[in-house]
Amino acid sequence: MNAPSSTPMLEMRNVIVDFDGFKATNDLSLTIESGSMTVVIGPNGAGKSTMCDAIIGRVRPTSGKVLFHGREVQGMAEDKIVGLGICRKFQTPGVLVALSVIENLTIAAAKDKRWWTKFGRKGEDEAKAKAEDVLAQVGLEGRRDTPAGDLSHGEKQWLEIGMVVATDAELLLLDEPTAGMGAAESTATADLIKSLLGKHAVLVIDHDIDFVAQLGGHVIVLHQGKLLREGTLADIRADEEVAAIYLGRAK
Ligand SMILES: Nc1ncnc2c1ncn2[C@@H]1O[C@H](COP(=O)(O)OP(=O)(O)O)[C@@H](O)[C@H]1O
Ligand SMILES: [Mg+2]
Repeated sequence: MNAPSSTPMLEMRNVIVDFDGFKATNDLSLTIESGSMTVVIGPNGAGKSTMCDAIIGRVRPTSGKVLFHGREVQGMAEDKIVGLGICRKFQTPGVLVALSVIENLTIAAAKDKRWWTKFGRKGEDEAKAKAEDVLAQVGLEGRRDTPAGDLSHGEKQWLEIGMVVATDAELLLLDEPTAGMGAAESTATADLIKSLLGKHAVLVIDHDIDFVAQLGGHVIVLHQGKLLREGTLADIRADEEVAAIYLGRAK
């Protein structure tokens, strides 16, 4: 099961996703190492969400490969890829509004775990314990028994991040986790995401440059489905082509 250490955790190789002749990702190649943070920026329509879809099996690449620990996953069903240890938070909130915060987390912790059905009570206890840990990690202790539908927008986003964390996935994909948040909430979200590194690798998609600066990870700029540049945010900011096509227009 252990791949050689030279094998990256995740690799996309020349991935093309073609929607009826329009290449939403176009010959996209990148690697993500275990425990690391990768931040993907780029204008609307650059192919950021499609890139996530291709990693997690929501769309099938027209050509190219997606390798997780050296194993080809392109073309696998999404639930199988999730079972291998990749989990995605969607751009639109997807919490179960009638259930409490702790119930949402418990369901996420129990998801796809075979012991849940195999060992019954024990699995249930483990999922509950995990949910309590994650509750504290995302700072929602005070909202433990609140129905998810009554949370503020920011709190819902943190619950959703918690639900991804509760699955124990090795790679977390967070698509615009600060959408609709104010500055203070964004800062808290950056701190939360940074606290996940090491145990998890995190790929964050966002277009708010202040938030990207707070995250401080390896930055990838997508443009028209292609990887335009990668490096530190300082490298990216100093790049004239990036400034011309993107940063000048960023909020
Ligand atoms: N299912 C689809 N069918 C056709 N075109 C799509 C589909 N999904 C995305 N696209 C197009 O692909 C491009 C990239 O979209 P997306 O990956 O959502 O960009 P981003 O997340 O960077 O804003 C957009 O032009 C979008 O309209
Ligand atoms: Mg998107």
